[in-house]
Amino acid sequence: MNRIFSGIQPTGNLHLGNYLGAIRNWVALQHDYECIFCIVDLHALTVPQDPAELRAATREVTAAYIAAGVDPEHCIIFNQSMVTAHSELAWILSCLTPLGWLNRMTQFKEKAGKQREMAGLGLYAYPVLMAADIIGYKATHVPVGEDQKQHVELARDIAGAFNRRYERDFFPLPEPQIFGEATRVMSLRDGTKKMSKSDTSDYSRLNMTDDADTIALKVRRAKTDPEPLPDTIAALEKRPEADNLVGIYAALADLTREQALARFAGKNFSTFKEELSAVAVEVLGKIGGEMRRLMVEMDHIDAILHQGAERASAIAIPILREVQDITGLLRPEH
Ligand code: AMP
Ligand code: TRP
Repeated sequence: MNRIFSGIQPTGNLHLGNYLGAIRNWVALQHDYECIFCIVDLHALTVPQDPAELRAATREVTAAYIAAGVDPEHCIIFNQSMVTAHSELAWILSCLTPLGWLNRMTQFKEKAGKQREMAGLGLYAYPVLMAADIIGYKATHVPVGEDQKQHVELARDIAGAFNRRYERDFFPLPEPQIFGEATRVMSLRDGTKKMSKSDTSDYSRLNMTDDADTIALKVRRAKTDPEPLPDTIAALEKRPEADNLVGIYAALADLTREQALARFAGKNFSTFKEELSAVAVEVLGKIGGEMRRLMVEMDHIDAILHQGAERASAIAIPILREVQDITGLLRPEH
């Protein structure tokens, strides 16, 4: 059986990278797989969070999933902390994970920065919790943006480590699913930096809740170079900002990069940016509007999360019980 697990941290400012790298692909996959989409609030705690903002962001991310087209009747949508199996399994897996594997994680190095000694244990151990999220449901596929590939591969290694230690084929080895024309959306202000929730420049990203005027303004201000658009992908790839914008246009307009470039080769950026703005407003405007509508009905959002947590527990708890038996942990029923 093929089962998908994926998630997003409720840390505010969902942006175009989250949409094109993750949510949009989930919507496309939801009818071909059994799907579990999580709002990973425990992951959010790896950096300081204001409690009220964390609660609000958890509901906002839920609204974003639904507004973008994830069907809560069909898919399981819930917040991670409601299913305690994630944390319990994470401990067991952490005992199987060599430090050397965690030391390779590039995201930790980036996030911890120079203050390595001050970084929290949670930030360091986070990929083990992510592995527990995924393999705790015996998920086979994990649709994510390019930046999460290394973490999904680690989850695979940890699943393999468990299977070897206990000499059985218990966990399937999960595979990353990274596709579309914008698997790594870059900042609108700097083509060498990832578009991210934590960038302090508002002009660096298109948020999923931006209105039409804000989208138009940010696209107009997006960094470009003075040359018109080139006519080959090879030439485009030498210009990171132009490459990023063409990738975004292609993804939003449901075209390949080649098709998008063919439309604009030789044209200047002002023409291209108008078209880019129009398609971004069309796609994000609709989703943002729906998010705002959903967020007024907070009880409805909470009901979806509760129901999702029940359905998720029904899958995760029996798997955790089996893990406890395999590892030799006595449990209440014994
Ligand atoms: P995060 O915002 O780190 O919780 O990421 C949630 C999901 O969005 C993950 O699947 C990421 O890979 C994806 N994502 C985040 N930023 C980007 C980006 N700039 N480009 C593509 N995908 C992204
Ligand atoms: N670590 C992911 C991110 O920051 C979020 C995440 C947590 C996740 N658990 C997951 C993604 C499990 C896919 C599967 O983007």
